[in-house]
Parts: sequence; C-alpha cells; structure tokens
Amino acid sequence: MPERIKIGYVGLGRYLPENILTNARLEQIVDTSDEWIVQRTGIRTRRIMGPGESLESMAVAAAKSAIENAGIDARRISVVRIGVNTHMRFPSLSSLVQEALGIPDASAADISAGCSSFIFSVEEIFNRLNFEWMAFGKKSYGLAVGTEGMSIVTDYSDRSTCVLFGDGAGAAVIGPVASGEILATYTRTQGKYAGLLELDKFMHVPLTDQREMRFQRLEVTNYPYLRMEGPKVFAVAVRTMVSDVRMVIERYNRANGQQLTEADIDYVYPHQANLRIVRAVGEALKLTPDKVYSDGVKNYGNTSAASIPIGYIDNLGKHRGNTEVDVAFGAGFASGAILRKVAE
Ligand code: UT7
Repeated sequence: MPERIKIGYVGLGRYLPENILTNARLEQIVDTSDEWIVQRTGIRTRRIMGPGESLESMAVAAAKSAIENAGIDARRISVVRIGVNTHMRFPSLSSLVQEALGIPDASAADISAGCSSFIFSVEEIFNRLNFEWMAFGKKSYGLAVGTEGMSIVTDYSDRSTCVLFGDGAGAAVIGPVASGEILATYTRTQGKYAGLLELDKFMHVPLTDQREMRFQRLEVTNYPYLRMEGPKVFAVAVRTMVSDVRMVIERYNRANGQQLTEADIDYVYPHQANLRIVRAVGEALKLTPDKVYSDGVKNYGNTSAASIPIGYIDNLGKHRGNTEVDVAFGAGFASGAILRKVAE
C-alpha cells in the first residue's frame, strides 16, 4: 500500500450576482426595518440572481475561477460534487457543469444536505481521492462547489424569512498538495428536526384517483416556499455546530494519535446564517471575533450551501499555515465540519 499523501485545496473561486438587495429595499417590500434586521441577523445586503444568471452560470463561473487559480487542466478532474438544494430538476447540476467545463468522464453528482452540502461534497471528494491513491496509486483532482439560488424559494411576503437569504456560488479544486491538507471531516444528519426547516410539496401529487390510477396533468408548477421555525432552528444550530467542531478534532486525534485541542484552532468558518449564531459558536469555542469569519453574513446573507466557499475568498492569501475549521448546519438537520491546514 502506498504512503498516504496530503490532499487539500489547490484552487478556490466564487461568483456573486451583481444585483444587491439592501435592507432599505426590504423595508419597502415587507413590514421590517434595517434596525431589526441588523440587530437580529447582522445582515446588511444580499446578492440576488438576475436575468442571465442561474445556478448553472454561477457554479460554472465559480468553478472556472477555482480551476484557473489551481492552475490545472480541467480534464484532470475525476470527481465533481455540487452541494445545492435549489436545483429542482434533472439532469443534475453537476452533469451540466461538468459539460460546461469540458471535464470528460468524471463521477459527477449533486449533494442535497441543506446548508452543509458543501461540507458533505468535500468529504466525499476527500474520501474518494484518498481511495484512488491508496488503492490504485492514482493522484487525481476533484471539484467541490456550493451554489444556491435561495431567491427562487424565498417568499418575499414572509418577513421572518425573506430578509435572511441570498444567492451565490463558491468552489474548491481538491487534490494533492505539498502543504495545506485536509486533516479530517465529519458529517451527520439529525432527521428528527427535519420539520423545522423545509421546502415541501414542490410537486402536487399527480395521482388523483388511486383505484383507477388516474393522473392529473399539471399545467402550472406551483413553487413552494421555504418555511422555517427560526428560533427553534437557532438553538439547535449553535449546539450542533459547536459539537461538530469538537467531533472533527476528536476524529483527527483518534485517527492520527494526536492531541489537538480547540485552543489550536486559528480560525473558523461557521455557516453564515446569522451573525448571532456565528458569534455564539465563536464564544463557545473561546475564539475572539477576529478568529471567526462573519463578513459573509453581513454582505451576502445566508447563501446556504455556498456560504463557506464564498467566505474563503475574502481571506485568500491571508491565513498561511493556519489550522482552520469549517462548520455548517442546515435543513435535515444535516451538519458537519472540516479540519484543515492552510498552505504555507
Ligand atoms: O441556514 C439554515 C439555518 N438557519 C438558521 O440558522 C436561522 C436560525 N434562526 C434565526 O436566525 C433567527 O431565529 C431569525 C433571524 C430567523 C429570527 O430572529 P429571532 O430573534 O429568533 O426572532 P423571532 O422569530 O423570535 O421574532 C421576534 C419578533 C416577532 O415579533 P413578536 O411576535 O415578538 O411581536 C416577529 O414577528 O420579531 C418579529 N419579526 C420581525 N420584525 C421585523 C420576525 N421577522 C421580522 C422582520 N422584521 N424581518
């Protein structure tokens, strides 16, 4: 069996739509105020897809930028995973992006694990690239994307949710690295909470008569809207993210005979759902605010699966040699964390 190799991020990219939805504009749409939004969420602006922008165009733009940043030929990518919850059609977004990028014969599939979908995507790619190396001695590359069009599923008459979400995409090319490796990943899903945050009844049941097996032809597709019991989600979110950070450190220690602790963490990227959640996670981990990423929630709102990779670009080149953790939480309730080094 070959020696283990280091696998990490070799290139990063993102795409943010040009349209900016401000709190002042939301004040004209629903009964809300800039003061309430900033106090309760920390959000000031979000980006919203306009004509000519789509999940596919955002994912392709973010991926192209990551591939360019990695300096590799896209044809060397053997696995594509796109974390996305708002691509409500087939074929998969991954297959469309694969084709647009000119990647032949990769294993390409979407992952729907709420706002943690990017973490789940990275975990799958990391495990697969490790397997390809250990089993076949093959060094290959993977592409992880988090992209979301939350504006598609947001009810802009519901003030309790419409102020929260935005659109965007972030991407990472993953492959062999000299430094800056992924140390461990951890994911889980707590299905018992699934009803607190959902987008259901997308398609009305078309079977109208079960005895006769009659199907109703739907002329108009009614998009449902996201529904969330915010305060209940809030409480589970903080608890879960803090515990997932501890779990990923413990997994790394157990697998490698190490004794890493929370005090060794230089920086955390928590899912950017709400500034209060981000701060609570930082406080529970005894990290000062400068060690916890929060610009994403202020500037782009909650971009679901895209929020963590969008954040990486804000700190590009600033954190050399850091030990960092990404941690996310969302519908499902699916959650997870990545423990990684930043390249020297
Ligand atoms: O990414 C997936 C994970 N999602 C999350 O983690 C989101 C978690 N939840 C949250 O971030 C927060 O619960 C929210 C931001 C959604 C809500 O904040 P909150 O402090 O929990 O407020 P609340 O829902 O308890 O509402 C407090 C009050 C209510 O009024 P009354 O009943 O006290 O009179 C709401 O009707 O604020 C009212 N309210 C608003 N007022 C002005 C709710 N939304 C708004 C609004 N503008 N946009």
